[in-house]
Amino acid sequence: MPRHVILDMDPGYDDAIALCLALAAEELEVIAVTATGGNVEPEQASRNVQALVEHFDPKRWPRIGAASPEQILRTNARHLHGDDGLCGAGLQVAELANRHRSVKVLSDEIRKAPGDITIVATGPLSNIADMLRYEPDLAGMIGHLIIRGGTLAAPGNVTAAAEFNIYCDSEAARQVFNSPITKTVIPIDVTGEVILGFDFLERLKSRDSRTAVLLERILPGAYRAARQHLGLEGILVHDVVALVAAMRPALFTMQRMYGDVETAGELTHGETVFERRAVTAEQPNMDVAVQMDAAAVEAAIVESLDAA
Ligand code: RIB
Ligand code: CA
Repeated sequence: MPRHVILDMDPGYDDAIALCLALAAEELEVIAVTATGGNVEPEQASRNVQALVEHFDPKRWPRIGAASPEQILRTNARHLHGDDGLCGAGLQVAELANRHRSVKVLSDEIRKAPGDITIVATGPLSNIADMLRYEPDLAGMIGHLIIRGGTLAAPGNVTAAAEFNIYCDSEAARQVFNSPITKTVIPIDVTGEVILGFDFLERLKSRDSRTAVLLERILPGAYRAARQHLGLEGILVHDVVALVAAMRPALFTMQRMYGDVETAGELTHGETVFERRAVTAEQPNMDVAVQMDAAAVEAAIVESLDAA
């Protein structure tokens, strides 16, 4: 029985890879893809979600949610994902007039199947926080929330202390961290262990699947940006690793922890803070991925995309 998922994403090249993987994975059924701003502005993220689904054209189309144009974000990551969010791929998209908002799609689908849906959030947590603010009873109906965000002990990637998805909307992240939802956090300590080298890009060129053709248009720009801005000979795929956690949880070691988000710090704004003292009054409020079989996760990514 496939796991029913809703992907809340800010495409973003690694969100795009994760979406391709999810739409092709036998372990998952993608019920909806809801856009949030983050890597790029909300409207662009919404267009990217639609363009990716149109170009991938899965047998069973997921519902699509549009990010709120009023979403306020502290920064963006256009230097790594391009001004269009997909590294200049130039995907055309049919403008749909009656797009439902992401928060409404999330609420509709969770109410249809209480306890059944896993949300995989690979962008800022604005939609999840807004949904909980408008409809707090939904917290008890979400089966599981997997959050691709934060750091456990690793340095930040947008400031010295903060990871991008949390930093973009730290108030939303704090609200979600402190909600009663069953949640798992996949920090960049773990997701940063996988870097797809140039051999992955070469492998795509030898494939003629819809996925390969789509990613071949997106990823060369991501490799260039990673080399220019991060000095890497390959691309980080944080969101793809988080999706593997939904597909193959056995590849990850989880630890119950108490976590919260700094929203008032000057140097530490958006930092995720986890309680690791032996004696504490704080009760754990989430699972945190503290280790993974990186080689097996990378193999799962490559094999799943090969099969897509
Ligand atoms: O910190 C990495 C995360 O920020 C990834 O989800 C990337 O897509 C950006 O959203
Ligand atoms: Ca993302």
